[in-house]
Amino acid sequence: MLAGEAYASDMTTARTATRRATRESVASQLLGWDHLEWWVGDARAMAAWLCSGFGFEIVAHAGPETGRSDRVSYVLAQGDVRFVVTAGLSSDSEVSRHVLLHGDGVRNLAWRVDDASRALELAERSGAAVIAEPATESGESGSVTTAAIATYGETRHVFVDRSRWAGVWGPGFDAERLPPTAAGRVVGLVSIDHVVGNVEEGRLDEWVAWYEEVLGFEVLRHFGADQISTQYSALRSTVVHNGAGIVMPINEPAPGLRRSQITEYLESFGGPGVQHIALATPSIVTAVAAMVERGVRFLDMPPTYYEDARLRCAEFDLPWSTLERLGIEVDKDVGGYLLQIFSEMVTDRPTVFIEIIQREGATGFGEGNFKALFEAIEREQARRGNL
Ligand code: FE2
Repeated sequence: MLAGEAYASDMTTARTATRRATRESVASQLLGWDHLEWWVGDARAMAAWLCSGFGFEIVAHAGPETGRSDRVSYVLAQGDVRFVVTAGLSSDSEVSRHVLLHGDGVRNLAWRVDDASRALELAERSGAAVIAEPATESGESGSVTTAAIATYGETRHVFVDRSRWAGVWGPGFDAERLPPTAAGRVVGLVSIDHVVGNVEEGRLDEWVAWYEEVLGFEVLRHFGADQISTQYSALRSTVVHNGAGIVMPINEPAPGLRRSQITEYLESFGGPGVQHIALATPSIVTAVAAMVERGVRFLDMPPTYYEDARLRCAEFDLPWSTLERLGIEVDKDVGGYLLQIFSEMVTDRPTVFIEIIQREGATGFGEGNFKALFEAIEREQARRGNL
């Protein structure tokens, strides 16, 4: 290549980079997670389980008493985390149909925005499939505007603008006669750290490109099948993020000797969907001890895991015997360390689980724990006859 051509090509690259950086994207509109909405068979039961086990509190309710005839919803709060747990009230409800196909699961991944119409317009212009045009619901305390686009499987991203709302959750919700707060020690979960989706084999790169090109997200990490594999099964994973707190790893199964845990998910859920929600806490030991007391079970790590972890993370002053007793995993990267643990499935089908994470400088996802974790998951898969 001639020097002039190299210069021209450099200029083109620079111009493309500038255009990307300055182009107004959906990613730049997102202020953070607004809520995650579960679609389940029995909202009262799922809400009660998430409250009793994981320390959530019900703060609002919608249903026939508040003028919504087709569904019932409970809003669960803990720190900045908001879950909406919804069930259909008849067999022809779209919620009931979704549950029949997928079982209980996470349907809507909702982001807070200043302008839902603008976010939808940017998404649509870049090729997103619009599921719901901007709609404004009003009530005594103002109004909330939402709009929605499709992502993997039947999962949706919802844009929520509640800047003109000053009441309980939103129009159609109230805080009357709520179920009482579940007994138990304070858990102390504070925020959504990341939300993980599983997609079909061979479609990971397509979905990553969708988040990059349609929403303006960027790739944070990629883990190949060589990094996430056990004796039996493997997966590939790419983490995308908006650069301002919304972090979404996406997994696909990779060929292995036996059935990948992602394949078990896809077959059980009936397609792509949310696999796990990672919730952050400033004190994982306090949080996990409280959840165990409240009846949550977490995946076990073998004693050999801790022999290895103590050597791998020897530079940090950690309460090793407590971590081992509670089954908390440790990992490190250049920024520091993190502590994490994974619940057993919280749904009847082997689909959705909760991760608890405490970050002390590390920005990774527990790469050093992947093998031990996936072996623990495979022990559970084997118990179900699905390995
Ligand atoms: Fe995770």
